[in-house]
Amino acid sequence: MKAIQAVRGMRDITPEESGRWAIIEQSIANIFSRYGYREIRMPLVETTALFHRSIGEVTDIVEKEMYTFPDRNDESLALRPEGTAGCVRAVIENGLLNVPQKLWYCGPMFRYEKPQKGRHRQFHQVGAEVFGYADVNVEAEMILLNQRFWNDLGVLDNVNLELNNIGDSEARAHFKQALVSYLSAHTASLDADSVRRLESNPLRILDSKNNGTQSLLNDAPKMVDYLSTGSVERLEKLTSILQKQGVKVKHNQRLVRGLDYYNDTVFEWVSDDLGAQGTVCGGGRYDKLVEQLGGKPTPAIGFAMGLERLYLLLEANQFKSLHDHHRPDAYIIVAAPNYQEYAFQLSEKIRNALPDFAVMQNLAATSMKSQFKKADKSGAKYALVIGEDEVANQTVSLKHLQTGEQFSFGTADDLASLFKHLDTSD
Ligand code: HAM
Repeated sequence: MKAIQAVRGMRDITPEESGRWAIIEQSIANIFSRYGYREIRMPLVETTALFHRSIGEVTDIVEKEMYTFPDRNDESLALRPEGTAGCVRAVIENGLLNVPQKLWYCGPMFRYEKPQKGRHRQFHQVGAEVFGYADVNVEAEMILLNQRFWNDLGVLDNVNLELNNIGDSEARAHFKQALVSYLSAHTASLDADSVRRLESNPLRILDSKNNGTQSLLNDAPKMVDYLSTGSVERLEKLTSILQKQGVKVKHNQRLVRGLDYYNDTVFEWVSDDLGAQGTVCGGGRYDKLVEQLGGKPTPAIGFAMGLERLYLLLEANQFKSLHDHHRPDAYIIVAAPNYQEYAFQLSEKIRNALPDFAVMQNLAATSMKSQFKKADKSGAKYALVIGEDEVANQTVSLKHLQTGEQFSFGTADDLASLFKHLDTSD
C-alpha cells in the first residue's frame, strides 16, 4: 500500500533532532525567567477576525497565507499564523493588563507559504510580548535578552541586528504618500509585485528583493525625514544604550516588517548562514494594537524567533556550544537474558539514588559483543556489566568505556562506593 505522507511544508522533528530542540527551548526558557518573563500558552486556533484586525487586511499573511476554515457552527476560524494577536487577545480576556506584563510563549504557527529551506507551513516560534512600558528601556532590555541568547548558543558572531524606526501612523501616512508619488513616476523600473503593492501596501516595496527596485529606492524619499522628533530620539537613545552594552547595531531604513501592527521601533536579527530565509528573529513596538483589539490603551512590544531557522543556524555552526544531554551516562550490559531481573533491580536503584544520572538498560536479548557496540555508540561513559558471577555475588562490574578501566562492586551494600567512582560531570 502507498504510504501516507506528511502534509506539504509540515515536518516531523525526529528523535535525532528533538534533543537539540529541547536544549534550545530550555536555554531560552531559562533566559526568559532570568529577565522576569513568565510563560503564557494560547490556543492554536483563533477566530479569523482576530488576525484580520491585527496583522492587517492587505498583508501577505492575511491575504494569502492563512489556514482558515468554517467550524460546524459556521464561524470562520484560523490556525494561528503568529503569536502576537492571540497573546494580545489573551491578556485582554484574562484581565492581565492592570500591571505591566512580560510574557513568552513557544509553539507551532501555520502559514501557507511556498516551502523551502527555512520556510515551512507549520513552523515553530519562541516569542515574547511585553505590555505596559512606553519607555525605550524595554526595547533595549529585549534586544539584550536576544543577544544573550545568541551568545549562550554560540552564534553571536553569526547574526546581525538591524534596527529601524517606522514612526507613528501619521508619519507613515505622509511618508507613504511621498513614496507612492515617487515610485508611480518610475513604474517601468519596478518589479510586478511592487507595482501591485504600490496600491495595496507600498511600504513593503522597501524590502523588495528585486535589484532594479532596490536601486530605484536609492533616490526615493527616506522614512527618517518624516519621523517626529520623539521617534528620532527613540532610535538614537536605543542605539546608544545598545552600543554601550556592546551590541553591534546596523540601521536599516528599509526594514518595515510584514505585519501592520507596528509603530516606531522595529528590528530583525539576520544571518548570512541561512540562504534566502536569513531572518531568525523579528519584532517591534505595537502601541495601538491592544486598543485596536478592544483593550485599554497599553504600550507594547515583542519579538519572535523561528526555531527551524535557529536550528539550521546552529547546524551550520556544528552545534558548537550545545552539550548533548541525551547520551546515557551508563549502559547496562547483561551476559544472558535471565540476568535482566537483576539488571532492573540495579538500574532502578541507580535512578533512585542519582536523579540526574541516565542509565540505559539493554532490553533486547543480544550478544555481549553487540551490547558493547551499542554501549559505545550510545556515547555512554560507563558499561555496567552483569554476568554469572555478578548475579551470584550480587555485585556489578563497572567498565570505563574510554579508558577500559574496570572495577567490581557489591551492589546491595556498596552502591555508595560505586557512585563515588562515577564521574557525573560532562
Ligand atoms: P515574523 O517576522 O512574521 O514576526 O516571524 C518571526 C520569525 O518567525 C521570522 O523571523 C522567522 O524566523 C520565523 N518564520 C516566519 N515564517 C516562517 C516560516 N514560514 N517558516 C519558518 N520560519 C518562519 C511575527 O510573527 C511577529 N508575531 C513577531 C512579533 C512578536 N512582533 C511583536 N511581537
